Amino acid sequence: MTDRSPPTKRYLRALAGETLTPPPFWLMRQAGRYLPEYRETRTRAGSFLDVCYNPALATEVTLQPLRRYDFDAAILFSDILVVPDALGQKVTFREGEGPALTPIRSASDLNGLTISGLHQHLAPVYETVKTLSKAIPPTTALIGFAGAPWTVATYMVEGGGSKDFAHTKRLMWSEPEIFARMMELLTTATGDYLIRQIDHGAEAIQVFDTWAGTLPEDQFERWAIAPMRTLVERIRSERPGIPVVGFPRQAGILYERYVTETGVDGISLDSSVPLAWAAERLQPKCTVQGNLDPILLVAGGAALDAGIDHILRTLGHGPFIFNLGHGIVPQTPPENVARLAERVKGWRG
Ligand code: CP3
Repeated sequence: MTDRSPPTKRYLRALAGETLTPPPFWLMRQAGRYLPEYRETRTRAGSFLDVCYNPALATEVTLQPLRRYDFDAAILFSDILVVPDALGQKVTFREGEGPALTPIRSASDLNGLTISGLHQHLAPVYETVKTLSKAIPPTTALIGFAGAPWTVATYMVEGGGSKDFAHTKRLMWSEPEIFARMMELLTTATGDYLIRQIDHGAEAIQVFDTWAGTLPEDQFERWAIAPMRTLVERIRSERPGIPVVGFPRQAGILYERYVTETGVDGISLDSSVPLAWAAERLQPKCTVQGNLDPILLVAGGAALDAGIDHILRTLGHGPFIFNLGHGIVPQTPPENVARLAERVKGWRG
């Protein structure tokens, strides 16, 4: 069932280790509120999660940015929090306030979650992946994704976003057995979810560990590196040939251990990672992706051009995928994305 012939899509060739000029590119959150057509679809759908669980609408918003820009990859439109929702921890998104969940902070809270209904709950997402795999242009790769167990756990324990992750870290240090059990459940559920996305047509996987950089080294090893290594090994053995990209945001110099110890095919760099360091220490080990500051895409003009060129010059001579260092923000002018696309596509080394 796995196609073992060399990939022809540019995004997949870069993940297989090829240096391409110009590099392939796509942008995190390339579908979203900066596009008027997204806001229009969202208004029709009602809530954000209604879009995620509606295959027709999720397919439509995934395709919207591809109609405007020449991206080399499409990313499934969904959210990392559909996994806790599928485990039985109801998730809601309040307008302008981000996600809200009833916090999981004790053994009995955790006992209320179950993996048994996972695939049934996520069936609409799998349907979206299947529809997309037929609808995207033949040169565009389809990326499936999930949140990393640590990042998803922070939302589950805090009950939403957080500044200091105090509840999650307290649980991690004071109730290590409960926290370990939660992380094991999440690692299994995330692996099951990603394998299903692959079986419905996802050609590569990206795992978002947005809050990895908040962990001290020993905990980073245990709760960012180890679960990711488990996921990479599982995908590699059960679905060989599907590349996996990790995004341990703000991990600083721990990016290097993350790459070496998880065995990822690609590493997504946040905007704080120094380019020359990444070229020297990370790029010889795997394909690098990144890392334009999303606010430069708001600023535009000469500063944007200079930021793009600096990244291309430093990372463009090895295996590389152009991207942002984090998701596009809603106030981004769509014409700045066009300017970026033109500049990256026009680069000749
Ligand atoms: O990249 C893409 O285009 C694919 C879709 C995607 C979304 N979320 C859509 C989304 C992906 C890959 C995500 C991942 C995600 N979700 C992460 C990890 C990456 C990151 O950005 O750090 C995290 C932490 C979440 C959780 C999440 N989802 C939060 C905290 C919020 C609220 C903040 C916000 O931006 O509104 C969301 C909502 C969300 N996820 C939106 C979109 C398009 C906005 C929802 C809306 O339309 O109102």
